[in-house]
Amino acid sequence: MKKNSTIKVCLFPAAGYGTRFLPATKSMPKEMLPILTKPLIQYGVEEAMNAGMNTMAIVTGRGKRAIEDHFDISYELEHQIKGTTKEKMLADIRHIIDNCTFSYTRQKEMKGLGHAILTGEPLIGHQPFAVILADDLCVNESQGVLSQMVKLYEKFQCSIVAIEEIDPQQTDKYGVIAGIEIEPGIFRVNTMVEKPAPEDAPSNLAIIGRYILTPDIFDILQQTKPGKAGEIQITDALMEQARQGNVIAYKFNGKRYDCGSIDGYVQATVELYNEMKNK
Ligand code: G1P
Repeated sequence: MKKNSTIKVCLFPAAGYGTRFLPATKSMPKEMLPILTKPLIQYGVEEAMNAGMNTMAIVTGRGKRAIEDHFDISYELEHQIKGTTKEKMLADIRHIIDNCTFSYTRQKEMKGLGHAILTGEPLIGHQPFAVILADDLCVNESQGVLSQMVKLYEKFQCSIVAIEEIDPQQTDKYGVIAGIEIEPGIFRVNTMVEKPAPEDAPSNLAIIGRYILTPDIFDILQQTKPGKAGEIQITDALMEQARQGNVIAYKFNGKRYDCGSIDGYVQATVELYNEMKNK
């Protein structure tokens, strides 16, 4: 784990139902769906740890207890496999448990991503923090996406969103930004729209599930009215910061899989499997 990061806490909004994966997600959190042998949320926690964070704040909901159990010791299981060849399969999760603190709160009603982040405020307090949406799985050989973003935060000291170029016909699935490219791949954001129709989109630069947010976002979220789909949108709150020139969008290095969709989930599974076999 990287030492002394300026960002210590990572928030994981994990209250959603995962309806696209029913019936698998009827009683199991979608964040626990595995890619190979590891649940999606564990990939996210490892990315946060590699970016120097050791406090994981998770916004859960009803039916999500498996997440808490995953990031806790299982004495019975560990006792059973102690001294066997299987023991090493728990090494990574043990490392996480030994080095991180986890805290949880429940979002009682689904009122949007902005509302989920606001629900996490008591777990975070007044400090800048990262957000990972675990169903966006990001892989990079050398430096994780969140590590890349922490470096940018250290330089710009404002909110950072990760973006990628998408098919212009897909803008209604994402928050979309426009801004001034101040360095290659780095934009000072002046417009952000949540899930615009292609004809209304300001660009094809879509926000993906990685954010670094400054703590004033909580006060802004308190004031943010329901937007797209009648939900409180983080994109709308970030637009308030962008008006002051305080949002940077960053075309990250690496590959993102949309594991909230069946196509992206299968693609991630196949590609990570092939990579594992070729090692
Ligand atoms: C959320 C955000 C959206 C962002 C997306 C990234 O949408 O509201 O702005 O582009 O995550 O995955 P959701 O995928 O939860 O509908």
